[in-house]
Amino acid sequence: MKQTLENLISAREIDQRLTELALELNKDYEGKTVSLICILKGGIMTLADISRKLTFDVEFDFMDISSYGDRMESSGIIKINKDLDTSVTGKHILLVEDIIDTGRTLVYVVEHLRMKRPESVKVLTLLSKPSRRIKGGITPDYVGFEIPDAFVVGYGLDYAQRYRNMPGIAALSMETPES
Ligand code: PRP
Repeated sequence: MKQTLENLISAREIDQRLTELALELNKDYEGKTVSLICILKGGIMTLADISRKLTFDVEFDFMDISSYGDRMESSGIIKINKDLDTSVTGKHILLVEDIIDTGRTLVYVVEHLRMKRPESVKVLTLLSKPSRRIKGGITPDYVGFEIPDAFVVGYGLDYAQRYRNMPGIAALSMETPES
């Protein structure tokens, strides 16, 4: 199958938007210590880039969640492969995601984190697809870009583990050869 990429958001646009979000975060969390929790693997670019724009104290921790496998559609099955290494009890948590699609992962993770009794839990996502959201979902507090329902890759996002290192975001489409 031929894979075609159409550029959607450039590296420069991502950087500019992360700067805007960081300004907001620097006001909201001034003087506080915040545990930045990144959901592997897609969120690492967003975590790395936004964290360097933050002026308050941060800690890093990582969770590994499976929900998609190598397919383009969510399986709806969510599993924690790796939980936090640090205690977040009484701390401010900012979850850092690359994309919120159906929102299933977020509902599951936020519920899991709330059981650890943090002071607060907020969610930052680089990309959001509001049209795909399931009912009863959680609304992210900080959103980089709202995008239409396309399959997107780059800047941490993959298709079958590929394209994560692209500096910008592109829509990926598959063309089946005509028979
Ligand atoms: C992606 C993304 C979110 C989730 C969003 O992760 O990073 O965690 O899917 O989908 P949802 O809103 O429909 O639940 P993925 O499972 O593709 O893992 P990866 O980041 O390691 O590629």
